[in-house]
Amino acid sequence: MQYKIAETRRFAFPLLSLIFLTMQNPVIKAQLPDTISLRLKNVSTPPMGWMTWNGFGENISETIIKQIADALVSSGMKDAGYNYIFIDDSWQGGRDNKNNIIPDPKKFPSGIKALADYVHAKGLKLGIYSDAAPLTCAGYTGSLNFEKQDAATFASWGIDYLKYDYCNAPSDMATAKERYTTMADALSASGRNIVLGICEWGGRQPWLWAAEAGGTVWRMAGDIRNKWKDKGQGGMDIMDVVDINGGLDRYAGRGHWNDPDMLVVGLNGVKGPAADLGGTGCTEVEQQSQMSLWCILSSPLIASNDLRAMDERTKKMLLNKEAIAINQDALGKQGKRVLDNDNWAIFMKLLANGDIAFAILNKSNAAQKTTISFNAFGLSGNYEIRDVWTHRMAAEGNKWKGEVAAHETKLFRLKAIQ
Ligand code: GLA
Repeated sequence: MQYKIAETRRFAFPLLSLIFLTMQNPVIKAQLPDTISLRLKNVSTPPMGWMTWNGFGENISETIIKQIADALVSSGMKDAGYNYIFIDDSWQGGRDNKNNIIPDPKKFPSGIKALADYVHAKGLKLGIYSDAAPLTCAGYTGSLNFEKQDAATFASWGIDYLKYDYCNAPSDMATAKERYTTMADALSASGRNIVLGICEWGGRQPWLWAAEAGGTVWRMAGDIRNKWKDKGQGGMDIMDVVDINGGLDRYAGRGHWNDPDMLVVGLNGVKGPAADLGGTGCTEVEQQSQMSLWCILSSPLIASNDLRAMDERTKKMLLNKEAIAINQDALGKQGKRVLDNDNWAIFMKLLANGDIAFAILNKSNAAQKTTISFNAFGLSGNYEIRDVWTHRMAAEGNKWKGEVAAHETKLFRLKAIQ
């Protein structure tokens, strides 16, 4: 089906005004009160790393995490920017007789401090997980009423990041904000720079309050499953998450990010939580599409596949430096959705050097041909249009014409020709 330029023109006027607005506004961080800026913990670009949950679930151990740390370095992931290892739920072994939270001695016989030392020695950082209630989502020990003590324990272990979940907690927004603020204050008082990741799945609109509560990232939707588009089994799929996140760009900026959850790249239908609720897997095109969309939407890039056994295609996706550069761009803008209908979605992201990232997603189940006139999106003049996946110039001028496969996202970097 030919995608007509006329169809895009309807979006040109609102987009132009948005671009002007964006250009007139200083970086969002500069607008935040000092108290919030102070909490931003210097994580100015979206965090990158690897998280245990979606691929490994409760089957984690210090041995696996050390092997993953080794693989992060040997695969080139660390050099590409993936510098966090996030331990998710199920590391806990309860509390000792002084109420100090302790790790499961079978999974972590050497303790978390020794593991953090190992990870730090490789130039990586270590994240851990807890919950704003007595019990976590998987039923392990949570931190409610032990915030100060647990934050101090995490600091003494050398923890760099806390993913703080919200299972078993009251559903209202005020309580959520209060519980997250209490933990943020406890982390600040711990004396260590520990980044707070808020995980209440979007139900209480965390984009409105999470940065003020002390969060650097906030999940804006439920747990992502390893599937492109739901066929009625429930749970979030990639398209569900993109639909929501596509409307949240104005809430993100340097040091505070919408988090649409982990990448499914390289999971290839393995068992684990990502396989629940119909998460049977994504095609190579869909995995690459997710990477493109997460990059232009300035989402945390958190791999969840087994890094010890990555095939070349997976490495190519996770290690694409041009795509990562769009994600980590210093201007800190989340890509804006500038067109959305049943067949197509288009996103644009302004970059620090004046270039523009431009993503064209074919949502339909068949390949489609299209001609995009960049003029219709408020971009006058001519551009070098570089395809971030082929690493070649795709066109030069003010138009791109080509075919986009079903579920594919073309990701371009546009440089104005003077
Ligand atoms: C929730 C979170 C997930 C994961 C699990 C662990 O579902 O959203 O990301 O942390 O809990 O139990």
